[in-house]
Amino acid sequence: MKALLKTKLVTSFLAVILICGLVATLVGTRLIGTGIIRQAQDKVRNDLNSAREIYRQESEDLKDTVRLTALRFFIKDALLKNDMSTLTEELGSIRKAESFDILTLTDNNGRVLIRTRNPSISGDSQADDDLVSRLLSTVEVIAATVIVPEEELRKEGADLVEQACIEFIPTPKAKPTLEIRQTSGMMMKAGAPIRGYDGSLLGVLYAGKLINRNYKIVDKVKDTVYQAVKYKGKDIGTATIFQGDLRISTNVMREDGTRAIGTRVSEEVYEQVLVKGLPWIDRAFVVNNWYIAAYEPIRDIKDEIVGILYVGILEEKFIDMRNSATAMFLGIAFAGMIIALIVSSFLAKSVLQPIKQLIFASHQWADGNLDFRVEATQKDEIAELTETFNLMASSLKERDERLKEYTQQQIMKSERLATLGQLAAGVAHEINNPLGAILMYSHLSLEEMESEDPRRKNLEKVAAEATRCKNIVRSLLDFARQSEPNVEEADANEILRRTLSLLQNQAQFQNITILTTLSTSLPKAMMDSSQVQQIFTNIILNAAEAIDGQGEVTIATRTAESGEFIEIEFTDTGCGIPQENLDKIFDPFFTTKEVGRGTGLGLAVSYGIIARHRGTIEVKSNPGKGTTFIVRLPLKSEV
Ligand SMILES: Nc1ncnc2c1ncn2[C@@H]1O[C@H](COP(=O)(O)OP(=O)(O)OP(=O)(O)O)[C@@H](O)[C@H]1O
Ligand SMILES: [Mg+2]
Repeated sequence: MKALLKTKLVTSFLAVILICGLVATLVGTRLIGTGIIRQAQDKVRNDLNSAREIYRQESEDLKDTVRLTALRFFIKDALLKNDMSTLTEELGSIRKAESFDILTLTDNNGRVLIRTRNPSISGDSQADDDLVSRLLSTVEVIAATVIVPEEELRKEGADLVEQACIEFIPTPKAKPTLEIRQTSGMMMKAGAPIRGYDGSLLGVLYAGKLINRNYKIVDKVKDTVYQAVKYKGKDIGTATIFQGDLRISTNVMREDGTRAIGTRVSEEVYEQVLVKGLPWIDRAFVVNNWYIAAYEPIRDIKDEIVGILYVGILEEKFIDMRNSATAMFLGIAFAGMIIALIVSSFLAKSVLQPIKQLIFASHQWADGNLDFRVEATQKDEIAELTETFNLMASSLKERDERLKEYTQQQIMKSERLATLGQLAAGVAHEINNPLGAILMYSHLSLEEMESEDPRRKNLEKVAAEATRCKNIVRSLLDFARQSEPNVEEADANEILRRTLSLLQNQAQFQNITILTTLSTSLPKAMMDSSQVQQIFTNIILNAAEAIDGQGEVTIATRTAESGEFIEIEFTDTGCGIPQENLDKIFDPFFTTKEVGRGTGLGLAVSYGIIARHRGTIEVKSNPGKGTTFIVRLPLKSEV
């Protein structure tokens, strides 16, 4: 039971701790997880803004260079003079210096005058080109991203066609397509009108940089935004430019270390960015790693979506961050649980220790060591309980001692009575025969004596006193009689009624009221009816004798609380018994009555009978007010 209480305490503590720990861990890790991922998404959104700015800056640089070049005098001078060789030479060196992929000059109708990359091809019209047609009709300098078809690229040179051409690499989750390669190119172009001294349009100069396989922009994004930081040997941040859904410039690497151009975006991103024109931010599996990725559309000069700008941060870093945060959280929760467990078992111990002491003390008391005391160490409810236990032990000890004393007295009393009984029986036996002889001879002598004989009176006295002695001797023998009562089932109420009907008519009871409260449900008990009647007679007669003049005798019967006895209670309003006599009234020959009226054998005989019935007799008295005798007789006789 001790172990059970401790187990109960500790397990309930543990259950509470476990539930709290579990809930806290689940909620905590979830919050940490989503928090970290959300942070990563915010970061990648900002990174995409930076990437867009870098892309725009690149375009602006191109635009500025073209504007400045277009303003140079040698161009309009040569144009006015139709000096093509100077133009070819000068513009060619500018193209190389500025590392333009193309630098082309047209006349004011859009017809190509000089293709610096491939001077051999000229005279074709570019008036249908979106950029050129816009330049012919405006005074502005324009920069834009455009898709250049293969035949236009070819005019600039076969190497450019080769640079632009990218084979499709089968990509899981990409939108299915029948095409196997991309032959057109995506170009960042800028152009400016060339005006004469009079302001008339002389022609158009435009430059372009092919983005396909040109990694300048994406690497710049990687270097500026991510400082080329690596995580576990992989670039933490990557950027990509898509032509349509095809990766044409990227620093996402394949496992062999080459750039992963030729792969395509997933259909999901395709729909969101290329079709709906909306940004897409989420985790994405790119080539061979998971990234927190952001995509947004790239638009051409006519504001049509022609490609995608992408940045992504390696998810692994954030997952690791989340895992280590989770592990830390778990560690803290676990440590908390251990601490709580230690505290709870300490608490359980501090509660159980005094209880254990109390249990030990109870065993001590049960074994009779009522002097044992428990010491309360703290001031709490258990200390109060301990105090109560100690008090209980004290009162138990007190009661025990009183009981011992009482039992001792009872034993001594019954021993004394037994000795007295033996003595009385011996004396009675010895006296009985001589008494019989005295009686017999005195009667014989009386019969033979003349009726006028003066000695007759004396002899009659002898006979009367001898008869009185004979009666005393018979009572003595009754008291000391060793023979067991002749028990049978009998109704105590019935015996009482019989006794009262015999006694009530006597002169002694003239002024005495007898009240009876006899239980109607009194069970029959095993007893010797005539002996019990003798007891009742003795007690009622004593009561009547104790009442001087008017008084009451109340008689009640009931079943005792234990259910094993019947109780007959006699209460009178007589003189009562002084305290010092209470112990003696059952002694044979103890009487307070004058000689001749009482022999002091009534209660002694009654005591003997009750003892042989395995019953008890109890007396309570209030001197001057009255006396109560309670007789208890067992329901089942063991006799
Ligand atoms: N109801 C009582 N009220 C007061 N004293 C009592 C009562 N019953 C008994 N006693 C006292 O107890 C004594 C002993 O009683 P017990 O019946 O043994 O003897 P007795 O009445 O004196 O004589 P006996 O009954 O032999 O004629 C009585 O003398 C009396 O002093
Ligand atoms: Mg009497």
